[in-house]
Amino acid sequence: MNDVQPGILAPVPRLARYLFLVAIPDADLGAALSALQGLADGDQTVVGLGRSLVLALGHEIEGLATFPHHAEATVEVASTPVSLWCWLRGNDRGELVHRSRQMEKALSGAFSVYQTIDAFRHQSGRDLTGYEDGTENPKGEAAIQAAIVRAQGSGFDGASFVAVQQWIHDLDAFEAMTDESQDNAIGRRKSDNEELDDAPASAHVKRTAQESFNPEAFVLRRSMPWADGAAAGLMFVAFGKSFAAFDAQLRRMVGAEDGIADALFRFTRPVSGAYFWCPPMKGRRIDLSAIGL
Ligand code: HEM
Repeated sequence: MNDVQPGILAPVPRLARYLFLVAIPDADLGAALSALQGLADGDQTVVGLGRSLVLALGHEIEGLATFPHHAEATVEVASTPVSLWCWLRGNDRGELVHRSRQMEKALSGAFSVYQTIDAFRHQSGRDLTGYEDGTENPKGEAAIQAAIVRAQGSGFDGASFVAVQQWIHDLDAFEAMTDESQDNAIGRRKSDNEELDDAPASAHVKRTAQESFNPEAFVLRRSMPWADGAAAGLMFVAFGKSFAAFDAQLRRMVGAEDGIADALFRFTRPVSGAYFWCPPMKGRRIDLSAIGL
């Protein structure tokens, strides 16, 4: 697996910082990305490129789309494409601050920082609602099958596609729900994480049950809670060998199939949404040969 950015397959870190950057027109993007190759190791820092950036460099990556808008959605889902995404992973918040400053400096002149979000692991890996997040993630070889591009040739194999959304929770609204309606919204019991067979069709895990799609829609979720002052929620991050599985899940969550919106929308909403291509590794460097670098 030495052609995959290791941070994709590794467990969620204790702390993280997400940098969202926008390319400056006519800037030397290639030189900035070469500098980034010297700083991002794919492990402590996972990197993703947006479609507009790849196009600006005069290339195309098959399957790299713009975050979708589902016309039949019964709830609002933001699509906010950006050029570049860096997921800084670590254990020490100060170190993350310094590492992100170093990256911003290396990229300045070619990219401006659009958004910075600090995230953390909550307990053993729970969402701020207290529910265990990631239980049904594919593991081992199945995780690789779900998340990593294969049989596309050098420069492409080992890559991954990632969907990133910032969700803002209304924790007051969530806390006002009874325990039973909270469990029914997720489709699992908070107390023991058991799946509820009789959960309503709006339950989140009923909407997204990966085996219920045709073809099956497996993704590798690496989401983390975030908080900033009084606001808090989940940075939803899902890696796939393409965007097909995520797209099918989101389509069902927003009610585009049957008019039933995911019960999550009762207490949380996505205020951003972007797609990125996470390049493979070659040796210890991020391999940008697919886009001519
Ligand atoms: C604030 C947003 C979200 C929260 C709090 C959340 C939380 C959860 C929780 C608690 C579970 C059950 C345990 C597990 O298997 O991980 C779960 C499962 C899952 N979620 Fe989410 N989720 C969110 C957004 C999304 C989005 C946007 C998608 C995809 C479009 C998604 C896809 C999935 C999938 C595929 C599963 C596993 C379903 C299965 O096969 O059983 N989630 N989520």
